[in-house]
Amino acid sequence: MTSKKHVVSESAAPLLSTKSQIQVGIKGEKRVSRVQKATKRLPRYTSYPTALEFKELNEGTHQRWLNALPKNDPVSLYFHIPFCEKMCWFCGCFTKITRQYDAVSDYLTSLLAEVDLIGGWTGRREVSHIHFGGGSPSILTPEDFERLTAKIGQLYDLSHIDEYAVEIDPRTLNENMVKSYVKSGVNRVSLGIQDYDLKVQEVINRVQPMALIQDNLKWLRDHGLTNINFDLIYGLPYQTVQSIRTNVLKTIELEPSRVALFGYAHVPWMKSHMTMLDEHPMAAPAERGAMFEIARETFLSNGYEEVGLDHFSLPEDTLLKAKKESTLKRNFQGYSVDRADTMIGFGASSISKLDGGYVQNAPSLHSYPLKIAEGLSPVVRGVAISADDRMFYDIISDLMCYGKIDPWAVAKNHDSDYDFMQEEAMLDQLVEAGYMSRKKTAFKIEFEGRHYLRAIATIFDQYFPQEENDILTRCVHESEG
Ligand SMILES: C[S@@+](CC[C@H](N)C(=O)[O-])C[C@H]1O[C@@H](n2cnc3c(N)ncnc32)[C@H](O)[C@@H]1O
Ligand code: SF4
Repeated sequence: MTSKKHVVSESAAPLLSTKSQIQVGIKGEKRVSRVQKATKRLPRYTSYPTALEFKELNEGTHQRWLNALPKNDPVSLYFHIPFCEKMCWFCGCFTKITRQYDAVSDYLTSLLAEVDLIGGWTGRREVSHIHFGGGSPSILTPEDFERLTAKIGQLYDLSHIDEYAVEIDPRTLNENMVKSYVKSGVNRVSLGIQDYDLKVQEVINRVQPMALIQDNLKWLRDHGLTNINFDLIYGLPYQTVQSIRTNVLKTIELEPSRVALFGYAHVPWMKSHMTMLDEHPMAAPAERGAMFEIARETFLSNGYEEVGLDHFSLPEDTLLKAKKESTLKRNFQGYSVDRADTMIGFGASSISKLDGGYVQNAPSLHSYPLKIAEGLSPVVRGVAISADDRMFYDIISDLMCYGKIDPWAVAKNHDSDYDFMQEEAMLDQLVEAGYMSRKKTAFKIEFEGRHYLRAIATIFDQYFPQEENDILTRCVHESEG
């Protein structure tokens, strides 16, 4: 029988992770105590093992894992652009403020060289998805964006690409950039909206009037870019349940095909600029729950459907189709319809998922370009994925994507005889509490348990310190987080 591990990682944690591979707490940030990690913030399970388990990793392993990628399988590519023009006080992303485009140009030189280097190691492969995250990828000039796309096309086969997505700070977009995106093949964008209220915008240091968002939408739609995601946040200073409802109603009027609704993760001990928000009133845990609920109800009664932990989609959106066809995936971009199992990350701090394991590039904007200039792998950390990890990844993905699991059925697919004794006991506790229901070996999260997805996923996390608190306490902590 497979044995269980109770490893507690001492490395600092990425506490939240969305489509941009948001990385709070990578090397160089203040460390978080084990108790904080275990009780205050639960992993979002955009990977398994989570980045908490990443350890030092050498170039040889990285190269070996790249060489061993299954020959005919497609890959997806992630590009991290860690620059913004102005710091939003709520920001948990890995980014640097720059008003000098020179810094971006220099970084682009490294990215181009990295595509050459890694492309040489992987060989030419079919690409299914490209995602540009940040920071703000929309800081790149149209010329630079096209140069990078052209370089990617030299090393990889882009003729069967399903999705080419770019994250956009609406304050930086103009019509020329939209034309360049369309020319390059971009077919999905996400706009960082956060909140429409001027007072909230001023406090978070991010003023973007409605007229600006409407201009963005007009340019995008006029040029045929109609797959538009919005990012919204609840739990920011001065937001109320009523103001969240107003935000959602305004969003619905603008008709994005997909919305990500993130709970504000306030981690000033890791991101010191967040202390700028400490003097302002922020919702208590119960009010945050009510904010999510009102947003959810408002979306659902206006034609949107819920996907996973924090997404809402219109019926024609690919995410909802994937949910219905059971092909939805949980990855660093949150939820994805990507058919590739491999993701190759480019740029400082980016994470790759390879068949052999996860690897992360140097987060430092000093050491990343140096390594690339020397023709070396920029990878500094990572973790191998074991056969057990693959099984638990599938179980956790089922929970995060569909809110239901049959652990024994998944184990059978993996030829494992793992007995799930401890896990079953915890699941039964949740059934008794009314958070889940059980039919033979299948468990489903019920309405009462809908806020506890991450806590429930910890049951199957073999690296989570299970002894630290019981499953019901973990649910309470999640609702407070
Ligand atoms: C890289 S940004 C999106 C692109 C662009 N930089 C922008 O902000 O418009 C990714 C998203 O992460 C979310 N985000 C950032 N910091 C967060 C935090 N501390 N808590 C919750 N969500 C956060 C925001 O909704 C943001 O739009
Ligand atoms: S624009 Fe986006 S990445 Fe940049 S600071 Fe604001 S939230 Fe963070």
